[in-house]
Amino acid sequence: MTTTPSALTQDELKTLVGQAALQYVVPGEIVGVGTGSTVNKFIDALATIKDQIKGAVSSSVASTERLKALGIPVLDANDVPALSVYIDGADEIDGQGHMVKGGGAALTREKIVAALAARFVCIADESKLVSALGRFPLPVEVIPMAASHIARRFEALGAQASLRLKKDGEPLVTDNGQHILDVKGLTIADPLAFESDVNQWPGVVTVGVFAHQKASVCLLGTAQGVKTLTY
Ligand code: A5P
Repeated sequence: MTTTPSALTQDELKTLVGQAALQYVVPGEIVGVGTGSTVNKFIDALATIKDQIKGAVSSSVASTERLKALGIPVLDANDVPALSVYIDGADEIDGQGHMVKGGGAALTREKIVAALAARFVCIADESKLVSALGRFPLPVEVIPMAASHIARRFEALGAQASLRLKKDGEPLVTDNGQHILDVKGLTIADPLAFESDVNQWPGVVTVGVFAHQKASVCLLGTAQGVKTLTY
């Protein structure tokens, strides 16, 4: 029995786009690696060509552990002046390649590694494609002592911000030792201006809008197969 694309599960779509991203990996170079369930599929695919790359710069402790477990060398971002490509997932992506990211709490390091790269290749299933950013609660990494103040600033915009908690009810602590606010009820009409504005609020470490570091390419897993969107 053959599997038609329409029969593919979301997990299988993630595997497809993770494998498709290998075409953007430059032999002999270091690749920037994001975080999340879609990127995990990419890391698994990357392991099959690990002898053709120098290694990876990782955006999270979780991705670093997965890369190392598969025998892929992980380099410190401070030792790598530039990358040709950064490959990562997204929680939302719009028609211009602007994204919301941070569902996995790795947004700050993701933005740093993306900034090193000439090209951001987003890998996502079609559920992530939106006409305007704001449906997914916007992650914002904050200095803990500023969390309530920043939440009130979002409330003044008509949104609702809540501190991300772990299963035990304690605040989630990021790889950088900070907290995450998840903000519902925003309409982000101008992602570039919104990112610039919120980023300069005191206590904001990183806002999860990726407009200044937007995608150059999106490999979108759809019922019809992998679509390549370029921006
Ligand atoms: C991690 O902090 C995020 O930015 C992820 O890139 C995003 O949440 C996508 O994750 P999935 O591939 O698991 O949906």
